[in-house]
Amino acid sequence: MAMTMTETLSLAGIACETNTGIRTLPLSSEPSFAYWQQDIPPEYWELGAGELVERVAVARGKLGSRLIVLGHHYQREDIIQFADIRGDSLKLAQWAAGHPEAEFIVFCGVHFMAEAADILSAPHQKVVLPNMAAGCSMADMADPEDVYSCWEELEEAGVADRIIPVTYMNSAASLKAFCGKHGGIVCTSSNAPAVLRWSFDRGEKVLFFPDQHLGRNTGVKTGVPLDQMPLWNYNRPYGSLGGMGEEALERARVILWQGHCSVHQRFTTDQIRAARERYPGINVIVHPECRLDVVQAADFDGSTEFISKTIAAGAPGSQWAVGTEINLVSRLARENPDKLVFCLDPVVCPCSTMYRIHPAYLAWTVESLAEGRVVNQVTVDEETARYAKVALDRMLTVV
Ligand code: 13P
Ligand code: SF4
Repeated sequence: MAMTMTETLSLAGIACETNTGIRTLPLSSEPSFAYWQQDIPPEYWELGAGELVERVAVARGKLGSRLIVLGHHYQREDIIQFADIRGDSLKLAQWAAGHPEAEFIVFCGVHFMAEAADILSAPHQKVVLPNMAAGCSMADMADPEDVYSCWEELEEAGVADRIIPVTYMNSAASLKAFCGKHGGIVCTSSNAPAVLRWSFDRGEKVLFFPDQHLGRNTGVKTGVPLDQMPLWNYNRPYGSLGGMGEEALERARVILWQGHCSVHQRFTTDQIRAARERYPGINVIVHPECRLDVVQAADFDGSTEFISKTIAAGAPGSQWAVGTEINLVSRLARENPDKLVFCLDPVVCPCSTMYRIHPAYLAWTVESLAEGRVVNQVTVDEETARYAKVALDRMLTVV
């Protein structure tokens, strides 16, 4: 059979494993705007898993060292098997910035990651995203127009010149450019505390978008009191100043954009309590996109690369309850058979947008490249790329 039911559901909703079988959940945070993806030739949907693997291998053989495949840790197994380099968003961005040798970079991840790779790679390199519909619902929560009008309000309130804008890597290239233009910087989950310290060396306040949880968790780690981290509600109508009021703005050290990741918001302290009750002494490790109470109740938190390395370095027989995306957690369980590794959430859902990178799209992409046609190239216009690179380069020097 060419495709499983789970695969066919990937654009309409998501099929999740539960303790009682498979059920379909709606995409609670479906992007407000989807990136455009052309239909791929129907023959690709007829191919079975083995044929897809073979065709990708043949096309890669033709391209040789001209092609490199990058794979984010959340990619499904039938994609990650093709990745030359696996990593978190920082590691993959660093790779793209430091390897001008490959002509084609096929990025198995989501749109903002491919954009960052395009900005950081050399001009002769082409970055390809196998499915343009692979966006990030959190990144979409910071619509550039909303961020610009927030900044205008901050200017009118007379505080913008005391604020450093910090955008999480999970954001559009135009927002990275905005940060580059306004003395700001990009961060990832690996370097957010260092980026916040960099920002406080240069400004009194930070505007942090789009993830309120990473912003709050990082603020707490760097000693900012919770009452100095008000939320900027971008949902209209919010009244003025994102609904926070002048007093809160004056007191604010970190202004948090009201965005979140729907995958990581599923994790709760009840799940942590249940894991600890069932397995006394278990290690709980979560991604910092989880809520503050979850991060504080965990033993460790960090990026997907940090989670992978920490579990790999764990003692044989150690036990790990993990608060992050299920494709990564399942892989860690398989790759660490001497340890107990499981997901904190009993209804384990993949990231629905990462999941859109299907082997049929990858086969179409690499076969097209092997035939001399570049499809699904992700390009950032020159002006945006120039300023976004300023903010990305600042980030790379802070790491
Ligand atoms: P990492 O940078 O930790 O890989 O995180 C990216 C991401 O999208 C997590 O949801
Ligand atoms: Fe975006 Fe969340 Fe998916 Fe990461 S897990 S790519 S933040 S939707």
